[in-house]
Amino acid sequence: MTDIQVRAAQAAEYEKVQAVFGGAMMFEPKPDELWTRLFEPERALVATDDGEIIGTTRALTRELSVPGAVVDAAHVTGVGVQPTHRRRGVMSQLIGRQLREVPEAIAVLWASEPAIYGRFGYAAAAWGVEYAVDLHRVGAPNDSIRPGALAVLTADEALKDLPALLRRLQGQRSGVSGRSDLLWQARLQDKPDDRGGRTERRILVHRDEAGTVDGYALWRGKLNWGPTGPANEVLVEELVAPEPAAYRALWQHLLTMDLSATLNYSHAAVDEPLQQLVTYPTALERRLGESLWLRVTDVPRALRQRRYAVPLDVVLEVTDHLIESNTGRFRLTTDESAVTCERTDDAADLSLSVTELAGAYLGGRPLTEFAATGRVTEHTAGALNRTATAFGWPVAPVSIEVF
Ligand SMILES: CC(C)(COP(=O)(O)OP(=O)(O)OC[C@H]1O[C@@H](n2cnc3c(N)ncnc32)[C@H](O)[C@@H]1OP(=O)(O)O)[C@@H](O)C(=O)NCCC(=O)NCCS
Repeated sequence: MTDIQVRAAQAAEYEKVQAVFGGAMMFEPKPDELWTRLFEPERALVATDDGEIIGTTRALTRELSVPGAVVDAAHVTGVGVQPTHRRRGVMSQLIGRQLREVPEAIAVLWASEPAIYGRFGYAAAAWGVEYAVDLHRVGAPNDSIRPGALAVLTADEALKDLPALLRRLQGQRSGVSGRSDLLWQARLQDKPDDRGGRTERRILVHRDEAGTVDGYALWRGKLNWGPTGPANEVLVEELVAPEPAAYRALWQHLLTMDLSATLNYSHAAVDEPLQQLVTYPTALERRLGESLWLRVTDVPRALRQRRYAVPLDVVLEVTDHLIESNTGRFRLTTDESAVTCERTDDAADLSLSVTELAGAYLGGRPLTEFAATGRVTEHTAGALNRTATAFGWPVAPVSIEVF
């Protein structure tokens, strides 16, 4: 590591940073005006060897919904080390420094491999469910969509109506990342090269009786003809429908597309209501995976930022091998109106590391899960169940976008 330097990136280095990331991930970066504008050089770190960039990590300034609130969260992305420089501690330097420097109290990312980020105190905080639906078997009703309720929008039209719906989803579920205007434009780009042989993106919306858009689905189709006839594929990229009528109508429409045999959707929550809308839920063929990984970078601030399911008064003894100020005892006190979390000398009720706090932070994984393998230790009888209940949340977190 002697000749490897780590420094902040410069604005003009976006293409070089992307080239290193693309080289590590094995894709060819293409010029993209919107993503160039979204580059935040002051939030990017590069590792150089003899002046050449050989490793990168960066963060996007975005908000994230957490239990009972929407807060700033560093959205970490573009982590890559040139294959010639792998396993020499480059990523460890980059991620360690990034975590110590982010101004937000939490950082989040999608991991390419689950083995990478646990060592830095990240934990999978939201599960994602991938559906591969057998449309011939699933048995979806196709009778309750009000005539005229569904329409297809252009991307420009969608930019007016869709952002408010995503914000409403953030009010319902944790783990949902906010989008600036520029991020929305980037999300709705539909370059032919990115379609993977599928149709252009359809922006399907549902309108309520007053004509207001109250749900949308982004989806594509793929023509396919199997030995027994038509077997088209429907790929649902994103579905946001805070209103139950919109949720039902959009799914019913997509599950009953003519000529189609399969539907894929990768961003369902573990408590996705979709399973209620079909006759044979086993035909949804669900696969569980880690979706959003979370790191608590400022323990007391992070714990104050979210809300809790029931009142709580607990002393947590926390360890953090990377960020010294997170190590110590903190008293967390919550009731319906306020949350306080301060450093204390009082005896601990529970001890755990920042990793377990991260796993439980969005309310998607109970602290009892970590206690069962000895990663959370109870010192005061009853403290574990009380704290696990308070950290839980009635709705499971979900991350609907890989960033
Ligand atoms: C993943 C990647 C960034 C790691 O960079 P690196 O500089 O080789 O990582 P480090 O040398 O700092 O590794 C630190 C530790 O993590 C381990 N590690 C690194 N990458 C790993 C992986 N993909 N799987 C399992 N362990 C991994 C190392 O073995 C090392 O363990 P050790 O401390 O016990 O020896 C790099 O290999 C890469 O760019 N991979 C392809 C792109 C990618 O997957 N990026 C992540 C996007 S989310």
